[in-house]
Amino acid sequence: MIETDQIAKKASMLEEVITGLSQEQKTLPSKFFYDEKGSQLFDEITNLKEYYPTRTERKILEDNVNEMEEYLGEEIVLIEPGSGSSEKTRILLGSMQNICCYIPMDISGDYLFKVADQLRDDYPDISIQPLSADYTKPFELPESSPEVRRVVFYPGSTIGNFKLEKVEQFLEVIHDIIGEDGAFLIGVDLKKDIPVLEAAYNDSEEITAAFNKNILEHINRKTGTNFNPDLFDHKAIWNNEKSRIEMHLFVKEAHSVLVDGVEVSFKKGESIHTENSHKYTLEEFEDMVSEWFEVKKVWMDEDQYFSVQYLEPK
Ligand code: AVJ
Repeated sequence: MIETDQIAKKASMLEEVITGLSQEQKTLPSKFFYDEKGSQLFDEITNLKEYYPTRTERKILEDNVNEMEEYLGEEIVLIEPGSGSSEKTRILLGSMQNICCYIPMDISGDYLFKVADQLRDDYPDISIQPLSADYTKPFELPESSPEVRRVVFYPGSTIGNFKLEKVEQFLEVIHDIIGEDGAFLIGVDLKKDIPVLEAAYNDSEEITAAFNKNILEHINRKTGTNFNPDLFDHKAIWNNEKSRIEMHLFVKEAHSVLVDGVEVSFKKGESIHTENSHKYTLEEFEDMVSEWFEVKKVWMDEDQYFSVQYLEPK
C-alpha cells in the first residue's frame, strides 16, 4: 500500500516536472521546495536579517492579539490551512480565551499529527482536531468540530504564491467553509522599496539560493533524476508589471538531463521559474478579495511592511 502510493507520487512528480520543463519559460511547481530539507531551509530563511515577513508578522500578531480576539468573537473554532509547524498560531492559542477548538490542516498527515500531539500537551483546554486534506479544493470539517463561529487563519502571505485564478478558487473555498457568520484572518505582504524586497529573496548567506536549488535535489531524491544544482545560479527578481518577486534558477552552461526518457535541454542563460511571491497595496488586496470578502480591519507594523487583515464574508 505504502509502496504503490510512493510509485504513484513519483509518477505524478515526473509528469509535472516534464510538463513544467517543456514550456517556453521553464517552470517547476513551488510545492516541490518542501521536503524535509526544504522545510528546514525555509525555517532558516525566516531567521535571516533580510527576510522581514516572518518576524514582522509575528510582531503584529503579538502586539494586537487582544484586539484581534475582540474582532473574532466570543467562541470560535480556528481553522488553519497549511498549518505546518503551527508556530505563529501559538501566539493566538496562548493568548486568546475564545478558541475552543483548533483545526490545523495539511496535506501530509505524519507531521500534522505529530504537531497536533504537541499542541494537545501545551494547550489542554483547546480541542485539537487535525485534518489531513488539500485545502485548495472544497473540503469538510471533522464531524466532531463544534457548532460555533468558524475563523480561518492564513498567515505568512502564502496567498501571494498563488496565480490569480488559484487565488479566486481559494477565496471561494474559504468563503464556503466559514459560512455567512464566519471570519477570515490573513497575513498579507505589502509593496515596498524594491531593494528591500529583492534583498529578502537574495540573502547574503545564500540560504534562499540553497532553498531554491533544493527543488532540483528533492526531485532527484524522489525520482532518481540527475539534475545538477551546481549548473544553476539562484536569482530573485522583482517583476513590476505583475507586482511579484520571482525566483529563478539560471542555467550557467548548456546541458541536458534525461527525465523519465524525455531529454530536457537547458540553454546557457535561460531560467527555470520556481516561485512567485505577490506583494500588494492595501487597495489592491481589497480589490482582489472584494467578490467574496469585506476587509473590516487592518493591522500593520510601523514601517508598513506587512499586514494582518480581518475579513468578513459578503
Ligand atoms: C512561505 C511562500 C510565503 O513567498 O516569502 C521565502 C517562501 N521563498 N523565500 C515567501 C519563500 C523564498 C515564502 N512563503
